[in-house]
Amino acid sequence: MQRDTDLQRIRHLRDLITYHNERYYQLDDPEISDSEYDRLMQELISLESRYAGEIDVSDSPTQRVGAPPLEKFESSVHLIPMLSLANAFNEDDIISFYERTRRLLETGDTIPFVVEPKLDGIAVNLTYVKGYYSIGSTRGDGYRGENVSENIRTIRSLPLKFRNSSHHAIPEKIEIRGEVIISRESFKAMNRARLRNGEPPFANPRNAAAGSLRQLDSRVTARRPLDIFCYAVGAIEGMTFTSQWEILQTLREWGFPVNPRVRRAGDIEECIRYYHEIAAEREHLPYEIDGIVIKVDSLPFQDRLGTVSRSPRWALACKFEATQATTVIERIQVQVGRTGVLTPVAIMQPVSVGGVVVSRATLHNQDEIDKKDIREGDTVIVQRAGDVIPEVVKSIPSRRTGREVPFHMPPECPVCGTPVVKLEGEAAHRCINMDCPAQIQERITHFASRGAMDIRGLGEKLVSQMLEKGLIADPGDLYYLTRDQLSGLDRMAEKSAENLLHAIEASKAPFLERFIFALGIRHVGEHIAMVISRRFGSLAAIMNASREELLAVPEVGPEVAGSILAFFGHEKNRGVINRLLAAGVHPRERQPDRGASSPLVGRSFVLTGSLKAFSRGRAKELIESRGGTVSSAVSAKTSCVVAGEAPGSKLVKAKELGITILTEEEFLQLLGAEQDHLQ
Ligand code: IVH
Repeated sequence: MQRDTDLQRIRHLRDLITYHNERYYQLDDPEISDSEYDRLMQELISLESRYAGEIDVSDSPTQRVGAPPLEKFESSVHLIPMLSLANAFNEDDIISFYERTRRLLETGDTIPFVVEPKLDGIAVNLTYVKGYYSIGSTRGDGYRGENVSENIRTIRSLPLKFRNSSHHAIPEKIEIRGEVIISRESFKAMNRARLRNGEPPFANPRNAAAGSLRQLDSRVTARRPLDIFCYAVGAIEGMTFTSQWEILQTLREWGFPVNPRVRRAGDIEECIRYYHEIAAEREHLPYEIDGIVIKVDSLPFQDRLGTVSRSPRWALACKFEATQATTVIERIQVQVGRTGVLTPVAIMQPVSVGGVVVSRATLHNQDEIDKKDIREGDTVIVQRAGDVIPEVVKSIPSRRTGREVPFHMPPECPVCGTPVVKLEGEAAHRCINMDCPAQIQERITHFASRGAMDIRGLGEKLVSQMLEKGLIADPGDLYYLTRDQLSGLDRMAEKSAENLLHAIEASKAPFLERFIFALGIRHVGEHIAMVISRRFGSLAAIMNASREELLAVPEVGPEVAGSILAFFGHEKNRGVINRLLAAGVHPRERQPDRGASSPLVGRSFVLTGSLKAFSRGRAKELIESRGGTVSSAVSAKTSCVVAGEAPGSKLVKAKELGITILTEEEFLQLLGAEQDHLQ
């Protein structure tokens, strides 16, 4: 009796844990807490151990927690070799590939392809027998790899058993190929934890994945955030496929993670479009890729094309330009930001990184420089990552000549000479002189910038010239500039002076949140500016808000509240605001808290394609001002995707996940009738 109940409970727990694994690892939308999950897992482990030897645990989720360490890895022969891919670096190479393919196939017709992201991870070969996971190995030399079965078993998103497919029988035996990766997010978290524990960080997600896969103790691997995407098959017994697309769809039906960005391309032009599209999206993807792969879809065509020098003639890897490069730091310059923070900036020999020439990169602060041991004169690796601001990854000490100079923050502000302070618990050094010319310049530039008052044509250079000539001293002065004053500036033709005056005039009715953001109050970024504008509705209400009132706003903590109070409590700041108002600058007021009744409250949006009515930035503001959120990638958590003109692969993913898709017209309707607010 007890036995029956236990066995039933085991079956139930396995299904439940498998379901929660899927929610967590594949859909990124967990339904239960980690501790609840751990409890289920513990219960299952103890029940299974009670029936050890009696019941089959090979496909149980408990098998993912790792097995006792190995002495060494056995080698494992691939039934069909794992080939490599021929490389292409530009459109011409892609077209040559296409022409050769047509020639070899002796066809004048268009050739359908499948296009996929080329994942930058570790290739693995997974053998399944009768639908059950049996061996997992690395690529090795292509013919034989290392048997890392226990390690691969710990990858939560990998099914240990096929899910039933309505279309296909389960093959007797099949080799499934894929790429083990670590997402950027997990990689960062993992390195943070390693640094905390005094362990050396990994250089990049690929190395981290490789290191994790090659652990002799799979319990260590089990704690690493490995993930996998499957994209090919090797040997198959007991069934056949006819196209690459069918392979991908079937793998997905069986429960294997298949990259959501894979796509069918009717002709080579579509492949080229995909190449550019993915190149543009590259830095926003949650994992690293180094190109795309183009594959001839039809397997009979693939057979006819065959293989030469270990690469199939039916596939092509189209690489993107590297986003890392090596260069030399000529010197380290210290910049003073608008809040007085001193930022060391590496001035480097110009180098092309991912197609963009880079000669400056932020070094963040002294701690960061010490940690990475970066010196003036060092040869370093630079990279352009997600946010396009170049970054120095590390120095290469082996290239040192002995002439490199370690860097120390200057004791005085390089601009105004005020002694620099370092506050307790902060990494930054600061110049605390509010009247430091560098701070003034940064404050005015920020005031005029795009997300703030958006005064077109008023950038850093112009602001610095105006300051030097004594035309302005604070943002308020901008609105009292005359044509004569402007035409006295370098390279300022009459037309440009005219344009600038127009731009200044046009900025006089900003949305309240932009005005608040423009003021450059410490800790008040675009988001907090929006939150408090929504809550208080007018500039006067914000200026007069008490600490209690500010603290009552969700997301406003003591630090933010203190900073807002200090800012408006400062005589000088009030003076600037009064001068702005007197010059005719009137932030648009809004009904306090209107966002709460909007249908957008609490919903998450993804924008794809271009909108006719306004820019993406403005669309984002409009959504956020109504209590919604905007994210860059589609996931199961997305409520709506707004599809403008020429939508990208986000639309495909949204369709796959069954997410509501809005046209631009529907989106405008949802935003409501406040048309004046839309522009
Ligand atoms: S197909 C014969 N598809 O690229 C074709 N490979 O240079 C077998 N890779 O070792 C590979 N993403 O590690 C294929 N979507 C993808 C891929 C991919 C990454 C890697 C794989 C392979 C290397 C070939």
